[in-house]
Amino acid sequence: MTTPLADRFGRVATDLRVSLTDRCNLRCNYCMPAEGLDWLPTEQTLTDDEIVRLITIGVKRLGIREVRFTGGEPLLRRGLVDIVSRTHALGVETSLTTNALGLSRTAQALADAGLDRINASIDSVRPETFATITRRDRLKDVVAGLEAAKAAGLGPIKLNAVLLRGTNDDQAAELLRWSIEHGYELRFIEQMPLDAQHDWSRAAMVTADEIFDQLSAEFALTPHGEPRGSAPAELFDVDGGPATVGIIASVTRPFCGDCDRVRLTADGQVRNCLFAREESDLRAALRSGATDGEIAERWVIAMLGKRAGHGIDDVTFLQPDRPMSAIGG
Ligand code: 5AD
Ligand code: SF4
Repeated sequence: MTTPLADRFGRVATDLRVSLTDRCNLRCNYCMPAEGLDWLPTEQTLTDDEIVRLITIGVKRLGIREVRFTGGEPLLRRGLVDIVSRTHALGVETSLTTNALGLSRTAQALADAGLDRINASIDSVRPETFATITRRDRLKDVVAGLEAAKAAGLGPIKLNAVLLRGTNDDQAAELLRWSIEHGYELRFIEQMPLDAQHDWSRAAMVTADEIFDQLSAEFALTPHGEPRGSAPAELFDVDGGPATVGIIASVTRPFCGDCDRVRLTADGQVRNCLFAREESDLRAALRSGATDGEIAERWVIAMLGKRAGHGIDDVTFLQPDRPMSAIGG
């Protein structure tokens, strides 16, 4: 029997995001400082077996239907291919959110392990801008990683881009043209207050409306038929299709009311929201000998505290203590 991961507002989480590490080999300036962060010590990080056990509880007892692996950068996790294969064996959809560095080496193994799809981040297709944002001159490796993923059949490949005022905010159309040429589905995401440095400002954020206007100057965008459901992207056909572009208005038009997500951090904490201020410690339960039923119960309770929305626009909004890289996208 499964118990749904329901909250007090009638939403049910079926999409589990699992952060496999808080480390990253890029240093995107809207995410973390140049020197990196204080990474989680190994003993606090879940082992591969612990991760698979929690995912199994989620799938078998709590109605999880889809598992997305994130980071930090999940390709840095040594056991990734094995974790994917053991998750795939549970009969759920699996996907990966990655920066694509090193993906050219592992794409085929991931596909063979049963990985269904990838989302990759790319904020510019100009080497200099890419290096300015990520503080690493690695655009070529990212492009090679994406090609390898395509060749391995990990499509449709979705690309995520964040526009930053004064850095790449004039490159939306260029990114879209490049993505279409290469057969990738591009989505722009409004920048959210999840940076380790707490530098985010609402005024500096490039809004979904601005992105739409910029793209409209060069392409004809028409709403793509299908309803949005719990998918956060507002989807548009580009020049009549079949190419599409997504715009994710996380801040200006929040989609929290349709949220079907729940997150597990690399150190075994359940987060009912990206912006949650509390976590529920499943690692402690695991390591003190709790049964699967007891862990499931704790997880169900963790959902009851899920708030109606992120409240970024409220005066009382407080940025979560953990940055995006420690929560997972
Ligand atoms: N706001 C919006 N998107 C972000 N990402 C990382 N930090 C932020 C933020 N503050 C994106 C990354 C990646 C995905 C996991 O989330 O660029 O594509
Ligand atoms: Fe790494 Fe993603 Fe953060 Fe960039 S946004 S530093 S790729 S975790």
